[in-house]
Amino acid sequence: MRAATFARSAVWAASRSSRTLQASRPLRLFSIKAEAASDSKQKALDPNRLSITQTSSPKPLSQPETLVFGREFTDHMLAIEWTQEDGWLDPKITPYQNLSLDPATCVFHYAFECFEGMKAYKDKDGKVRLFRPDMNMARLNKSASRIALPTFEPASFIELISKLVNLDSRFIPNQRGYSLYLRPTMIGTQKTLGVGPPGSALLYVIASPVGPYYPTGFKAVSLEATDYAVRAWPGGVGDKKLGANYAPCIVPQLQAASRGYQQNLWLFGEEEYVTEVGTMNMFVVLKDKKTGQKELITAPLDGTILEGVTRDSVLALARERLVPEGWKVTERKYTMNELYEASQDGRLVEAFGAGTAAIVSPIRTIAWKGKHVECGLKETEESGETALRVKEWIEAIQYGEEEHEWSVKIA
Ligand SMILES: Cc1ncc(COP(=O)(O)O)c(C=O)c1O
Repeated sequence: MRAATFARSAVWAASRSSRTLQASRPLRLFSIKAEAASDSKQKALDPNRLSITQTSSPKPLSQPETLVFGREFTDHMLAIEWTQEDGWLDPKITPYQNLSLDPATCVFHYAFECFEGMKAYKDKDGKVRLFRPDMNMARLNKSASRIALPTFEPASFIELISKLVNLDSRFIPNQRGYSLYLRPTMIGTQKTLGVGPPGSALLYVIASPVGPYYPTGFKAVSLEATDYAVRAWPGGVGDKKLGANYAPCIVPQLQAASRGYQQNLWLFGEEEYVTEVGTMNMFVVLKDKKTGQKELITAPLDGTILEGVTRDSVLALARERLVPEGWKVTERKYTMNELYEASQDGRLVEAFGAGTAAIVSPIRTIAWKGKHVECGLKETEESGETALRVKEWIEAIQYGEEEHEWSVKIA
């Protein structure tokens, strides 16, 4: 049996900031570099071997305003099986259908599952576009190899996904804010209860038309700073998009909801570092105590933070567009106490989550240690200026209003 070999890499790197005591300590990066289960001797993923079986009963289209996230699916799905002996078998697009799996299949027992979340958009000319699909492919390959599943050639998978999206493009509403949410998923399909690397896998993609996250405009959320449950930890898998990372977060979310908070703000360690918010990366805007300079801050990719595509896009655009306005843009550790003090001094200008589903999600307040840390919004405001600007910048690229290399035309 193939042995999964993992090369452990724990790297020490200098912190990029000396602004706070915590940040001036060296940043320890935790992440395992896993060897992929596939190798070059096996058959590669090959879009030329794709077969398409079209549905004989196309679904009626829903009114765009009635779409609920992830509830409706398009007519077709893409699926590719992998075996250890043969590598990637022929890709197939078929009518959307149930999977048939033996009850002993390893995904049900040991959580051999990873996934992606990405979107296809229709521009004003009716052309279909993906947003930075290379980043989703890279992340899926990292997630898959961490749980001993096979990897694939990113360009080939993007080509196959594009075929599916084009076939089902009638499901993408032609308005800003609407899109087709794509869910590439990989599962281990070996039918044995022995705990070991799966000898077979299935890579598939389903697609769901979605509307804007905030159909009637932004609604700022209230968070509960969560210290009694931990989403991710050094040496763990919080930087991978594994299904196993998500189920354990639901009970803390329900508990926060029972106290009137929409989301958890995940803290880490004695220092109470701020990490992520719900299933989004967290951003804050602080004003410097002495100079008043604005700083856009997000936690560094130290192995405990998901490498969000939106996070990376926000950082890149902020470096390009906010730094010339005199801002500082920083990836560094920051604590709940730092946010509390800044809020008390009136220096916490704004806080927002960032992710594919909503692009940005403004935050009104954070409940922490019996206090409410106010995040810079007036009572009448639902978003700060930075979150609004970032959303506008990213949407303009996604919908092809601003031509940009991140937006990839596929039809
Ligand atoms: C835990 C977590 N953090 C951050 C993100 C945001 O990532 P992205 O911008 O790639 O959607 C997601 C969403 O996928 C997530 O699940």
